[in-house]
Amino acid sequence: MHTEPSFVRNLGKVSKTYRDSGIYGRFINQCRLDAWRMVTERFDPPRAQIVDVGCASGSWADNWRQLGFQRIVGIDPNPDVLEDASAVMDEVHTAFASELGSYFTDNAICAANGVVVHILEDDQTVAFLRDIAETLAPDGLLVYSVLNAAYYYNAGRAEWFGPNSCVRTLETQRRFAHEAGLEILDEIGTFIDPWALPDLEFIAGDSELRERWQTYQVFVDLANVCRGRSITPFSEVLIVAQRSR
Ligand SMILES: C[S@@+](CC[C@H](N)C(=O)[O-])C[C@H]1O[C@@H](n2cnc3c(N)ncnc32)[C@H](O)[C@@H]1O
Repeated sequence: MHTEPSFVRNLGKVSKTYRDSGIYGRFINQCRLDAWRMVTERFDPPRAQIVDVGCASGSWADNWRQLGFQRIVGIDPNPDVLEDASAVMDEVHTAFASELGSYFTDNAICAANGVVVHILEDDQTVAFLRDIAETLAPDGLLVYSVLNAAYYYNAGRAEWFGPNSCVRTLETQRRFAHEAGLEILDEIGTFIDPWALPDLEFIAGDSELRERWQTYQVFVDLANVCRGRSITPFSEVLIVAQRSR
């Protein structure tokens, strides 16, 4: 029986970013950036500042600039990544989401890419979302990524829990958002894993297909066709939310 939340126990083990995953990481980053572009086009948030919760080494600094954000700030509880983050971001602090309000308040937009996947406990996931929600300005947005168990290969298409990461169904994620005092405004697909569909599982075992960019390009294009129209069959979804009124 653990007494500490998983993200405390696993601190330092979950700060990898797309840059650590070769061609697959390049694919994921391109798709997430495309999804974020749709968020900024649909919601037109103020671009003066974005708060990156769980910023790790500042892996998204370039992306935030490409999306037009002027001031890039963030927090991450892992002290080992903050030096790199401070080299590419305007202001960073070693902190958990529970301490976000000590540094940044009245936030117009907060982002949490790839963080909820590392919180194994239901109550801690809700607390994480609520802690960020409480720092939002009245119309402020929280945009965060969640994996979709229905189309995620490693999940066996059901909720799945590993030693430091997990995959839940979108129904569970929607319940968590509601419990955290969030109203979901939109759900936008990020990437479609090339091997997430049962009929395409063979791609995962074919090293030639898995290691060539053309395989991924097909799924970048498919994601661009589906994104904004359907969240099926996306392996990851951006939830766009604001505080419930
Ligand atoms: C996989 S990295 C994601 C990095 C970056 N956002 C990206 O998408 O490339 C997850 C980061 O979330 C941080 N994290 C975990 N629990 C957190 C919490 N409760 N509050 C804030 N950050 C947390 C970890 O320290 C880790 O650096």
